[in-house]
Amino acid sequence: MENQRVDIAALYQMKADRQPITMVTAYDFPTARLAEGAGVDTILVGDSLSNVVLGYPDTLPVTMDEMLHHLKAVARAVKRAFLIVDMPFMSYNVSPESALTNAGRFMKEGSAQAVKIEGGDWVADTAAAMVRAGIPVVGHLGLTPQTAHFLGGYRAQGRTSDQACAIIGNAERLEQAGCTMLVLECLPDRLASIISKRLRIPVIGIGAGAGCDGQVLVFHDMLGLDDGFKPKHVKRFAQLGDQARAGLERYCQEVRSRAFPDAAHSFSIADEEFAALQAKLGETK
Ligand code: KIV
Repeated sequence: MENQRVDIAALYQMKADRQPITMVTAYDFPTARLAEGAGVDTILVGDSLSNVVLGYPDTLPVTMDEMLHHLKAVARAVKRAFLIVDMPFMSYNVSPESALTNAGRFMKEGSAQAVKIEGGDWVADTAAAMVRAGIPVVGHLGLTPQTAHFLGGYRAQGRTSDQACAIIGNAERLEQAGCTMLVLECLPDRLASIISKRLRIPVIGIGAGAGCDGQVLVFHDMLGLDDGFKPKHVKRFAQLGDQARAGLERYCQEVRSRAFPDAAHSFSIADEEFAALQAKLGETK
């Protein structure tokens, strides 16, 4: 049904029906409202919040409290899409117990429907503990920005047969651990396609080709809001940055030339009221 909340069963059905799943990041009420209004199936409050919105150099500094603050704003706008939130760096890596506590906050206080964690085999036990506690978990493999230092920077992964086999093994391990979905970032298209076919759970790609069960992009990248950043896998579906800059420049010009505000954007007072005001103030003009 059109306005019914998208749930895990609906996402599995979309995979079974080979109907591509759409996902986009959102970080606040207006971006979530736009995504929701466009009919996006799943919204991710990504830890890209860190660099895209909060201006940190990468995804490592963002905190649980910052993520929760933005998740709550997004949740207030989302009525239909399935809502996922990223667990920030070190919020699930210290112990399964603290991972559960942190994921629980996102579900209870932030109304998330699932949490996303980065990593393979080494996070599978943590994922399984969260699933046992009733928290749906989304995995994330390939280019995992929280561990970019290990990966030699922000580059495509799985380009040798050994690396590709390891990624397939990690994907299968996450599915066995009970993950609900998997995100694959910057992997060769044929490798991502194999993984999508081997797994029962929906596989969402970003820079992982058309063979995935769905696609995700970062809101600001796909809409051209950050013109200093354009990785190979990002397609610009709009140029909002250019439009915003042109609008702001025009605003400055019009304020400086006193063209704005004009009568259409001002409030008036009736002539007799104004005359009375002038009389009270002892002014004649
Ligand atoms: O944080 C994020 O934006 C993400 C997407 C790139 C999948 O994890």
